[in-house]
Amino acid sequence: MRSTIFSMPSLTPPFTSTDASIIGTKPYQNNSYPQNQLSNHRPWALQRFSPSSRWRLSLLSSVSDQTFMGEKLSDDSILSVNPKPSKCFSSKLIDLLEALVVKLMHDASLPLHYLSGNFAPLRDETPPVKDLHVHGFLPECLNGIFLRVGPNPKMIHGVRIKDGKATYVSRFVKTSRLQQEEFFGDAKLMKIGDLKGFFGLVMVIMQQLRIKLKVLDDSYGNGTANTSLIYHHGKLLALQETDKPYVIKVLEDGDLQTLGMTDYDKRLTHSFTAHPKVDPVTGEMFTFGCSPMPPYLTYRVISKDGIMHDPVPITISKPVMMHDFAITETYAIFMDLPMHFRPEEMVKEKKMIYSFDPTKNARFGVLPRYAKDDLMIRWFELPNCFIFHNANAWEEEDEVVLITCRLENPNLDMVSGNVEEILESFSNELYEMRFNMKTGSASQKKLSASSNYFPRINECYTGKKSCVNVIDARTMSAEPVAIVELPHRVPYGFHALFVTERQLQEQTLI
Ligand SMILES: [Fe+2]
Repeated sequence: MRSTIFSMPSLTPPFTSTDASIIGTKPYQNNSYPQNQLSNHRPWALQRFSPSSRWRLSLLSSVSDQTFMGEKLSDDSILSVNPKPSKCFSSKLIDLLEALVVKLMHDASLPLHYLSGNFAPLRDETPPVKDLHVHGFLPECLNGIFLRVGPNPKMIHGVRIKDGKATYVSRFVKTSRLQQEEFFGDAKLMKIGDLKGFFGLVMVIMQQLRIKLKVLDDSYGNGTANTSLIYHHGKLLALQETDKPYVIKVLEDGDLQTLGMTDYDKRLTHSFTAHPKVDPVTGEMFTFGCSPMPPYLTYRVISKDGIMHDPVPITISKPVMMHDFAITETYAIFMDLPMHFRPEEMVKEKKMIYSFDPTKNARFGVLPRYAKDDLMIRWFELPNCFIFHNANAWEEEDEVVLITCRLENPNLDMVSGNVEEILESFSNELYEMRFNMKTGSASQKKLSASSNYFPRINECYTGKKSCVNVIDARTMSAEPVAIVELPHRVPYGFHALFVTERQLQEQTLI
């Protein structure tokens, strides 16, 4: 049987998933499409602000008035997402106020790199386009759907391959956020790129005003579901780390349907990382959520049957950005890295709301993965760094090994600069880190030169029609065994996923 691997050579950005492509801060000009979709791989939704100088934030709002779409499953539930925004008088008043603030405070001189070129959003969905032209052949064994999710706008692109034929589709994830933006025909929720300096504070206040005055409905969270996809327990989930998972169904004709949001039968009351891990042997899914309010980190295990176990709060000293984690057969590994949530510094020092503290070490917590609390967590320290994504982890005798992509002195603000500056300053090196569970020592070594973390485009494809290459994974030959022509370009996105035909057939019947 031929094993295969996928790539979208004309789809991969200079760098992808760190969300850099969504942190542009220019959403206020001439945009008729829902701008909030553009800048939220990591939109820390600020739910509550008290002017008494205390930031009160929560990443998730509670889901209330729950109704269920279709048949309620025995071990899980899917919430129908039906927000109730309002075009009341307050809405227009806040719009005017915001327009004035933007005019006075927003720097309109920055380039719109993340809204141009192949970052430029597609405005329309594409219903299934069947029988795409294929150069070469699609192996008989290759059946399933190759998916990519991204921010421009929060859309899933899919190439369904079955019986040697390919179908392309693109559909929005019908989040609460998108529904409300469609209702207004405009962006009303703040974006991560807004959260810098005093302007960021004003944008927080604007959003809070809209929520307090019932212009916006945050009952279902404010996430974008645009970061990553995972398949678990018969469900394809679209994820974004400040919200709950959205459940997507792949229909027989290759179309994609947003079924709703899952909260694991009300067990999930916090955010859900975009990078949970599914153990291929046990079928369990391991995940976590971060919050700017204690507990800053909560670990969860979901059984292969889709039952979410009790929360395991993990004590860390400050709220941090934690985009990924790792598991081994025995442990879960958490990264307490000094990318701190610092709203006061955002205002006082004109920084992004998350800023890196180079004086603090990087901390890695190794917890037995079925622990009921964090009493047995072992913390290891290494020189400071930031990490968005891990490659993998495993155990070797007394050591836990983590292969990861390490950044030194990351500056989230750089994503607002011009592309050349970003590429020059953005070094991301593959590292091997070792944590000795017996001695408590930690070590690390570099495995590769810088800048090989994010996929790069083959510039021969720049501006050309998109395609999907199917590569023989046994040889990794540069010559693909098949090239599927897509009906239009696919903007740079974040993570991708291949869902096998067997998994598609096993999708929970709803
Ligand atoms: Fe990611």
